[in-house]
Order: sequence, then C-alpha cells, then structure tokens
Amino acid sequence: MKNVLIVSYSQSGQLSNIVASLAHPLETEGVRVHHEVLRPETPFPFPWPFFAFLDVFPESVRLDPRPNKPLSIPDDTAFDLVILAWTVWYLSPSQPVTAFLQSAEGKRRLAGKPVVSVVACRNMWSSAFDTLKTLVRETGGRLVDHVALTDESPALASFITTPRWMLTGRRDRFLGLPPAGINARQTKSVARFGSALAEALSLNEEKSGQPMLSGLHAVKITPHLVMSERTGRRAFQVWSGVVRLFGRAGQRRRIPALALFALYLIVVIITIVPLHIILQRLTAPLLARRAAAIIRHYEQPSGTDSARIAHE
Ligand SMILES: Cc1cc2nc3c(=O)[nH]c(=O)nc-3n(C[C@H](O)[C@H](O)[C@H](O)COP(=O)(O)O)c2cc1C
Repeated sequence: MKNVLIVSYSQSGQLSNIVASLAHPLETEGVRVHHEVLRPETPFPFPWPFFAFLDVFPESVRLDPRPNKPLSIPDDTAFDLVILAWTVWYLSPSQPVTAFLQSAEGKRRLAGKPVVSVVACRNMWSSAFDTLKTLVRETGGRLVDHVALTDESPALASFITTPRWMLTGRRDRFLGLPPAGINARQTKSVARFGSALAEALSLNEEKSGQPMLSGLHAVKITPHLVMSERTGRRAFQVWSGVVRLFGRAGQRRRIPALALFALYLIVVIITIVPLHIILQRLTAPLLARRAAAIIRHYEQPSGTDSARIAHE
C-alpha cells in the first residue's frame, strides 16, 4: 500500500475543497493518505482586518514567516509521495507553507521524496512558483509535477472581488462581477489529477522522477501576467524592505508605511495595470519570443496540453 502525505494551508476552505477533490480518487484506489493541515503558532485571521492583511506583506515577500505548530505526522510513516497544496500571498508562497518548507521537520519529511505542487490563487503564481521550487530543492525534495488553479474571471474583476473576499469573507456576485475564486466545476475536475496519481502510484511511476500529470492541462500560462508579475515582484522587494525599516510584524509603527503601500497598490491597480495590459497587447507581436520562452519555462514540469483528457 502506498503512503501519500498531503500538506496544505487554506483559510476560506477553497484550497481544502480542492485537496478533498484531489484526494478522493487516491483514497478510493486504496492509497493511504495522511492530510497534514498547517497550523501557524498564532493563527492568521480570516476574513482579514485591513491592516493585518497588509502587515503580512513584508514577511511573505522576504520569506521570513510566522512559525507553525509542530506537525501531527506519525514518525514511523515513510511516504512515497508528498503533495504540497498552497496559496499565494503577495507573489510569494503563503507564510505557513514557507515556514513548513524552511522548518527542520518539513525538510526531514521532503528530503529525497517526489513532490507534487498544487497551487490555487487569484491568477498570479509564477514568481511564487519560482520561490517554491527553490524552497523544495533546499529541502532535498524533487518537484515532479505542478498544477495551478486560478480564478477564471477577468483579471480586472478579480482585482476587486478577491480583496473584497479576503477582507469581508464574501465571495458572491458583486456589482455585476462574477463570484471570487475557483469555481465548483474547476474544483470537481481536480479529481483527474488524483486518479492519474493513483494510477501512477500503482505502477511505481513516482520513483521515475518523471511527471505523472502531463497531458491533463495542469497549468495555463498567460505570458503578459507573468511579465506584470516580474515588475510587481521587483517593486515588492523594495516596498517590503521599506516597511521593515519601520518595525517588525504586528508593530503599530509600521502602519504609516503600510498605509502608503496600500495607496501605492491602489494607484497601480487603477492606472498602471490597465495601461500595462494595453501596452502588452499592442506590443504582443514584438514580445512573441519572450512570451514563448515564458511558456516553455512555466509549463514545466507537467505541461499545458490536455491530450490525456481528450482520450479519456
Ligand atoms: C494576504 C494575501 C495575499 C494574496 N496575494 C495573492 C497574490 O499575490 N496573487 C494571487 O494570485 N493571489 C493572492 N491571494 C489569494 C490567495 O492566493 C488565495 O487564492 C486566497 O487566499 C484563497 O485561499 P484559501 O484557500 O487559503 O482561502 C492572496 C491572499 C491573501 C490572503
């Protein structure tokens, strides 16, 4: 019998539902699944008070997270595969996931293991994925697959509906905009990855080091979003350093710097983001080679194609 460890952290339950959909075929195919839900030492609130939402920004970007409570994994279990289910905070892996990957216990659990990454976020996961790959490599784990689920609504709509959801807990239709987050159809269809993993495990394919989820439309790459993210990432590095000059996480003296950062974000979202999108569309033919390189990079390891879905 194969043993699979799923590690996740979800606030609203969105990622937990995705994990449940993924795990179901594994469990029904006789795989033993241990689901470890990360628990920060001091829980992060949800919905988020405004300044608490901003206050996690610098430490998320600088990979200086709040620690987690010890894990509840039985010490005598050796896992054949680890599934890391994570979300993105400020273009970085969420703090509980970073803390897990940096911890001695996390490193011990991942060392030498094949790791499948499953991210569910608004729509910007590429920089966070680069960071996650480095963190997994540093544990000694081998990232063999990557699945990305993103909000299907237009980017400008989710710029409004996601913060509303995070700050109020409400993700329903709002001002004619679609509901926030990953929809029920997407969540249900994640089961295809669970079925493919169950089959691969039955054939010992997890030992091969090759992706097990190719041909299942594991990711979709939008090059212009990746380009925007790279710009955002550089700005976040600067801003996170500036805010940290004002004080540590949770200290009231950071509030003025965080307020300034919030203002910056709002101005960028209203002005620069739409302009950036228009400019990128206009210059698309000139950027075709760069876009192709981005797709080649971020479609690794599991790929964008759906060949196996069509045949099933
Ligand atoms: C503090 C914070 C920052 C976030 N930053 C991003 C981001 O940079 N990119 C993105 O696509 N989603 C971002 N999100 C959305 C999350 O990735 C995720 O979709 C959402 O928190 C729901 O996940 P849950 O399962 O934990 O409830 C952010 C959420 C939070 C709470």
